[in-house]
Amino acid sequence: MIAVEKPKHHIFLCSSSRMSGEPKGVCHRKDARDLVLYLQSELDDRGMTDCLVSNTGCLKLCDHGPVMIIYPEGYWYGNICEDGIDRILDALQEGKPEETLLI
Ligand code: FES
Repeated sequence: MIAVEKPKHHIFLCSSSRMSGEPKGVCHRKDARDLVLYLQSELDDRGMTDCLVSNTGCLKLCDHGPVMIIYPEGYWYGNICEDGIDRILDALQEGKPEETLLI
């Protein structure tokens, strides 16, 4: 058995993914897939190797989309954009939530 380190933070970002493979939904229309790529590249640039990113289907908070969640902290963020991701990661590195984007 291979020993795999569990991530310290698991970040979920809704890209409106569907089992059929065809994305539809509010977060997809707001370019959430590009945000997933931006998030991963930003984590790489910052050396935050203890974070795992998963894109998800609808998180049922479409009015706040794009939606992003960080566990185990339980931070739920809405209206995510590249600047918001920067601020969220800044706060995460400081061990606190980015209060202005919490939902
Ligand atoms: S499509 Fe993203 S929360 Fe519903």
